[in-house]
Amino acid sequence: MTDISSVAIVTGASSGIGAATAQRLARDFSALTLVARGGGHLAAVGKCVKAIGAEPLILEKDLSVPEAAKEVVRETLNTFGRLNALVNIAGVVPARDLFDLTDEDWINGAALKFHGARRLALHAWDALKSTRGSIVFISGNAADCPRAAQAAVGTINAAIEALAKAFADRGMTDGVQVNSVSPGAIMTGRRKAILEKAAAHARIPVVEVERRFLERASISRFGTAEEIANLMAFVVSPQAHWLTGTTIRMDGGEVRSL
Ligand SMILES: NC(=O)c1ccc[n+]([C@@H]2O[C@H](COP(=O)([O-])OP(=O)(O)OC[C@H]3O[C@@H](n4cnc5c(N)ncnc54)[C@H](OP(=O)(O)O)[C@@H]3O)[C@@H](O)[C@H]2O)c1
Repeated sequence: MTDISSVAIVTGASSGIGAATAQRLARDFSALTLVARGGGHLAAVGKCVKAIGAEPLILEKDLSVPEAAKEVVRETLNTFGRLNALVNIAGVVPARDLFDLTDEDWINGAALKFHGARRLALHAWDALKSTRGSIVFISGNAADCPRAAQAAVGTINAAIEALAKAFADRGMTDGVQVNSVSPGAIMTGRRKAILEKAAAHARIPVVEVERRFLERASISRFGTAEEIANLMAFVVSPQAHWLTGTTIRMDGGEVRSL
């Protein structure tokens, strides 16, 4: 195996923002642990990572299961011997109305995106302390303007930003840098599927649903997973080492407030 000098864990690496981030980080890190449940897609991303120049470790884990976080960190350290960055991207929160969301929806949404990421940060902490490493959480601009129609997404994203801030507070004494990235509307497979469903429901073309979305959000276009991946790469890079305790929003200007 080639010399492993820098290692990152990327969760949600099988698709969308996580897959793009894994491929972008493969240029900067010598090894990456790629985590998601879907083995097939994860293996394909692993091949791309390898072709770009980083050593991949594929871990098929359900991060909503409490034991998974500990296993991910342990297997990463056993394989590569160190950890420099944890990039928490896995997340699926039910996009349902406040009055339709069940207890189970809330619990499942938080189990992965909030508690899965929280547990990984806890288990990775000592390893990151020893490398003066970095953690990034992903929230989303629904945190800034929670709406009844998507109450769980906004609430869980806001909680993630607060959690990142709390880890950053401890990180200032422990030498671990912690931030969150808050994307706006990014055109991933998941968003495409939601738009297609809305189009079928309203019996209008998908392009018309997209046009209405952009008009309502007052943005010129959807963001790309690669744009968020580039931001993630900057946040965990040595150039950003003094950046900590911050949420960085990238949303094409959608959120108008400060
Ligand atoms: N797209 C946007 O507009 C947008 C905006 C703001 C924030 N975000 C946030 O960005 C993140 C990625 O979104 P995306 O649009 O790229 O979605 P996506 O393509 O659906 O990616 C979600 C990732 O999470 C993984 N995942 C789902 N359940 C999991 C579980 N139980 N354990 C481990 N991994 C699991 C999925 O892989 P498997 O299914 O194979 O497990 C997949 O790799 C999410 O946290 C989302 O809330 C997205």
